[in-house]
Amino acid sequence: SEKAIKDHFGRTLKDLRISVIDKCNFRCSYCMPKEIFGDDYPFLPESELLSFEEITRLAKSFAELGVEKIRITGGEPLLRKNLDQLIMELNKIPGIHDIALTTNGIFLPRKAKKLKEAGLKRVNISLDAIDDEVFKAINGKGVVTLPVLKGIEAAQKAGLKVKINMVVKKGMNDNQILPMARYFKGKDIILRYIEFMDVGNHNGWDMDNVISKKQIIDQINEEMPLEPADENYYGEVASRYRYIDGDGEIGVISSVTESFCGTCTRIRLSADGKLYTCLFASSGYDIRRELREGLTEEQLKENLASLWHQRKDRYSDERTEQISKNKKKIEMSYIGG
Ligand code: GTP
Ligand code: 5AD
Ligand code: SF4
Ligand code: SF4
Repeated sequence: SEKAIKDHFGRTLKDLRISVIDKCNFRCSYCMPKEIFGDDYPFLPESELLSFEEITRLAKSFAELGVEKIRITGGEPLLRKNLDQLIMELNKIPGIHDIALTTNGIFLPRKAKKLKEAGLKRVNISLDAIDDEVFKAINGKGVVTLPVLKGIEAAQKAGLKVKINMVVKKGMNDNQILPMARYFKGKDIILRYIEFMDVGNHNGWDMDNVISKKQIIDQINEEMPLEPADENYYGEVASRYRYIDGDGEIGVISSVTESFCGTCTRIRLSADGKLYTCLFASSGYDIRRELREGLTEEQLKENLASLWHQRKDRYSDERTEQISKNKKKIEMSYIGG
């Protein structure tokens, strides 16, 4: 059928991740280390950003090519003005049945209600520690956990489904694996542990700093027994485990030790209108230029489909420390994870 375009390895296009801004109010050491992302860092000027009309036009074309799920990312996406208006437009697109947001949560007390009313279904909130001192050292801004916890509460109150993303890095927050599990267990919130990844060229990644999925699961299982659960949807990034006592579930995202490129259905759009067929790509496809040169709807769809047809990315399957060090990769804050 027309809906189900496949890449070189037969993978279907299903999700569109849209970065709406490259700026962030945090400076997490594993993502935007402040030594690199300082006051004079050349963030994208507003004139370079895709307009909401341009983003919506692209999303419509993608939906016609089979995309069903949209995730809004940043930097910190809630720094983009009037984001609820974009969500309202995306929510009208036939075929899109899931709209989610990845955020650090700080602005949710102010914005959760409006976002939900606009059609947002759920939020994934980053929180790497429950201990204030550990969290302050990670986010690079000395922010304690309370404002994030308030963001989580605001999201739940607004009726948004909440997951927590915790990047685990040895020596940074591995002492938080259990405290985080204990804190979120039984709260109807899914905590997901993420293996520290070698995204971008500036986060000092080293295999020695990765705590593996197995290490994480073993540690939790010993205190709070777990059993594996089936995936919620085809190609789910996290592997799920439920607490045997019925108190909910956790997830582990194991891009390093158990890659999942074989089921990768995702394309990414940067805030300045470049399309990337992998999180670890070196360069993107400039769709903004084509939009602004005035291509027809038919041409647009054809170009998007052809980009996907040619896709051969499977970076995490092929990753070695050598490849990681020598490859130029886009930054996480630019493409939104
Ligand atoms: P759900 O829709 O709730 O399953 O969200 P998600 O896990 O797909 O998205 P989220 O933005 O919360 O990402 C969680 C972590 O998974 C982040 O560290 C992402 O960078 C990582 N991630 C998401 N998609 C991919 C991918 O295609 N490849 C790799 N290597 N990592 C990914
Ligand atoms: N490795 C793994 N996950 C990362 N994220 C940011 N940088 C990294 C990294 N180096 C996570 C954020 C956020 C999501 C979009 O990606 O914590 O939850
Ligand atoms: Fe900002 Fe998220 Fe990156 Fe932290 S991980 S610096 S909150 S974009
Ligand atoms: Fe997809 Fe690239 Fe991640 Fe593999 S490394 S799952 S191809 S985004």
